[in-house]
Amino acid sequence: ENGQREDSLIQNDLSESFEEEVRAFLGDEEKLHLFDDLTKVNPVTTMTVLKCLQARYRANLFYTNAGCSLVALNPFQPISCLYSPELMREYHVALCPQDLKPHIFAVAEQTYRNVQKQMDPVNQSIIVSGESGAGKTWTSRCLMKFYASVAASVISPEGNQTVERIEKRVLDSNPVMEAFGNACTLRNNNSSRFGKYIQLQLDRFHHLTGASIQTFLLEKTRVAYQAPNERNFHIFYQITKGATAEERLEWNLPEGAEYRWLPNSERNLEEDSFEVTRGAMFHLGIDGAMQSNIFKVSRDT
Ligand SMILES: Nc1ncnc2c1ncn2[C@@H]1O[C@H](COP(=O)(O)OP(=O)(O)OP(=O)(O)O)[C@@H](O)[C@H]1O
Ligand SMILES: [Mg+2]
Repeated sequence: ENGQREDSLIQNDLSESFEEEVRAFLGDEEKLHLFDDLTKVNPVTTMTVLKCLQARYRANLFYTNAGCSLVALNPFQPISCLYSPELMREYHVALCPQDLKPHIFAVAEQTYRNVQKQMDPVNQSIIVSGESGAGKTWTSRCLMKFYASVAASVISPEGNQTVERIEKRVLDSNPVMEAFGNACTLRNNNSSRFGKYIQLQLDRFHHLTGASIQTFLLEKTRVAYQAPNERNFHIFYQITKGATAEERLEWNLPEGAEYRWLPNSERNLEEDSFEVTRGAMFHLGIDGAMQSNIFKVSRDT
């Protein structure tokens, strides 16, 4: 009995001293935002980790390392200097990108270098995960922009046109995928209703030569059913709002008509731009006639 009592006294002492450590750590408020790697947080508790991330968010520091993973916080506002071509270059030419501030470009560059150095596994993968609205689609776009820029081919004597097209095509896949696969939900105006596996292919000089995208788990039910205050896929709103008078006639879409399957169409979103989708489809090699067929099919579904 005595032994047991001593054990529980020691336990109490330990948990009290642990709580004291947590309090001391959190008490040093001025320093919380300085933890740029969550593995340095001690003691590690949900509270200490979240408080550090909160302090960093308040200090406009949206990226934090967690060992070899990166935690990205959604700033919910445009932070242009965080994604400038200059910053991209800074990470690309850095002696050791991991020594710079935590950033998605550091992950992108490190992965690129692993491919260059033929590190095992030679094919590198980046997993972007998080809850709805966390910024996965945004992050994937950043990664693709980064590779389209740093893995861009050198100018060949015959001209750079083909290659330029490849890079542009890789980037233009995003607006097309999003128009047909994303919808406005309560959590995210541009919520992806599918998963995707994007493969960027490099030649032996580590220049972009192509890309393939596999999609999975597309929520097709959204076409026929939307929760209150949510919307159908962007493309339908783009067509009904952006078609020309001629196209309206051809596609049987009278101006101002209302559709039961297009709820909340009075909301005008940034994502409603038909022009952007069409421009991207052109660059992907889908010409006007084929586009028209696709939009007719979209109307019929
Ligand atoms: N780094 C960032 N800088 C500025 N805005 C951002 C950033 N990350 C995300 N956002 C904003 O948050 C919105 C939601 O992000 P995003 O669409 O990437 O979420 P998601 O994780 O893909 O969500 P879902 O699972 O619903 O598809 C974006 O449309 C954008 O407005
Ligand atoms: Mg998404």
